[in-house]
Amino acid sequence: MAGRIPESFINDLLGRVDIVDVIGPCVQLRKSGRNHKGLCPFHDEKTPSFNVNEDRQTFHCFGCEAHGTAIRFLMDFDNQTFPEAIETLASMVGMEVPREAFRGPKPDTELYDVLGAAAREFQRWLRGGEGTAAVAYLRERGLSGEVARDFGIGLAPEGWDRLKTALASYREQKLVDAGLLVRQEGGSRTYDRFRERIVFPIRNTRGRVIGFGGRVYGDGQPKYINSPETEVFRKGRELYGLYEARRAQRGLQSVVVVEGYMDVVALAQHGVANAVATLGTAIGQSHFETLYRHVNLVVCCFDGDDAGRGAAWKAVDAAFPALSETRQLKFVFLPEGEDPDTIIRDQGQEHFRALLDDAVPVGEYFLDHLRQGLDLDQADGRALLAELAAPHIRRLPQGALQDVLVNDLAARAGLDATAIARSARATLEPNHGRRRAETSRATQGLTIGNKPLLKYVVQYPQLIDGMDPTVRAGLADPADLSLLADVVRHLVEEPGMNTGTLIGCFVGRAGYDD
Ligand code: GTP
Ligand code: MN
Repeated sequence: MAGRIPESFINDLLGRVDIVDVIGPCVQLRKSGRNHKGLCPFHDEKTPSFNVNEDRQTFHCFGCEAHGTAIRFLMDFDNQTFPEAIETLASMVGMEVPREAFRGPKPDTELYDVLGAAAREFQRWLRGGEGTAAVAYLRERGLSGEVARDFGIGLAPEGWDRLKTALASYREQKLVDAGLLVRQEGGSRTYDRFRERIVFPIRNTRGRVIGFGGRVYGDGQPKYINSPETEVFRKGRELYGLYEARRAQRGLQSVVVVEGYMDVVALAQHGVANAVATLGTAIGQSHFETLYRHVNLVVCCFDGDDAGRGAAWKAVDAAFPALSETRQLKFVFLPEGEDPDTIIRDQGQEHFRALLDDAVPVGEYFLDHLRQGLDLDQADGRALLAELAAPHIRRLPQGALQDVLVNDLAARAGLDATAIARSARATLEPNHGRRRAETSRATQGLTIGNKPLLKYVVQYPQLIDGMDPTVRAGLADPADLSLLADVVRHLVEEPGMNTGTLIGCFVGRAGYDD
């Protein structure tokens, strides 16, 4: 995948592909001369204004101005990325896509071979005599054989060298590099990583297996183990189920992000085929970048527990840099104790779809979350809301979405939108990155009216008590060595402190001198 595709190859490819062959299967076209006409797939219309020109090898819609080459068509119609569109076209005319060795070495294709072979072995074991208990477990959780097959679910049987033996034709070191075998510490012996577990193959968007998640089906700990990071498996970018979702739904428009493998497959089982999950890691900026290459709407639906709600708030910051007017983010909050799997099994698809339809837009969630515990009838509370929002808002790309959020905030905070925009930008430092440390550094500079936030906190410690726990945890970040963070940590540890006792804890410390 990595490496640049040479420009010359793209020209060559476009010379060999006929755009009519690319668009023909997707849009009903009628030939008139060298032109083909049809109903535009990019907007609603009753009379055809979509034209495909054979000579120029382009398409153009006179209704909505959509236009471009075969590559553009695949990207827009089928949500393919640029390299994927090139791959698709190349395979249509039987060409191999060359890659310039540009960004480091080429990925090791043998790793894909090994992982694919492992996935086949696991699937074979699930269907065989040893699979009885695992199949019963999957049945009991409501999964049909069809969904198990679509997701390539398999079984790693009991024993320490079953896969190692089955894949003996590959070099042992390859199996280690693929994350399938574990090498004993300091030793030369290796053994199977996945044993007596149901395994979920994790596929990249090209459909190649890049890793596995394994769940116990009897007793045993830990509940899940995942493949380690390898050359082909980057947990920070990859999402479980994205390949399957794109395959199930042509022209995928949205995805639902859930926490677990089982949530993804349970939703698919009940007709919601566009769920994806991170791989036992928190959702990060790179995940959102991956997702928004394929869809315009991401709905986060995490578990109805503290961890799930914490994950939702973290997702806001992770997503902000990737958002725009056309890239939307929404949230579904499940009742306490539920996860997407239990909800859809108990309540059915329609109920779940209704939850998705009622999902809360990110801007609304963001402001509602920050304002918890703040008294917006008081000028102090409103100012604090604006100040707390500023370092987050600056993570949004400038544009309409940022404007909407700033205006919304201004309305709630009873402040002037330009003042808020200025304060959001004032926390910007030259050459800013989007690093957490900088966010907290920005927080240090916060003022309310003309008072530093620190003074405010000291004067009104109850502000911290009332604040949403995750926001408070952000201010109290243990990595943050500032006095403000220290003060907030004290207040978190000992709620209910008043100004006097608080100052008592800090007298004599540099930095607090008036
Ligand atoms: P079920 O109990 O099968 O319904 O699991 P779940 O999919 O609901 O998972 P849960 O909410 O417990 O956890 C969500 C995700 O976190 C899982 O899919 C795993 O990726 C990861 N995870 C959960 N438990 C463990 C664990 O013990 N170790 C590791 N490494 N990851 C885990
Ligand atoms: Mn679950």
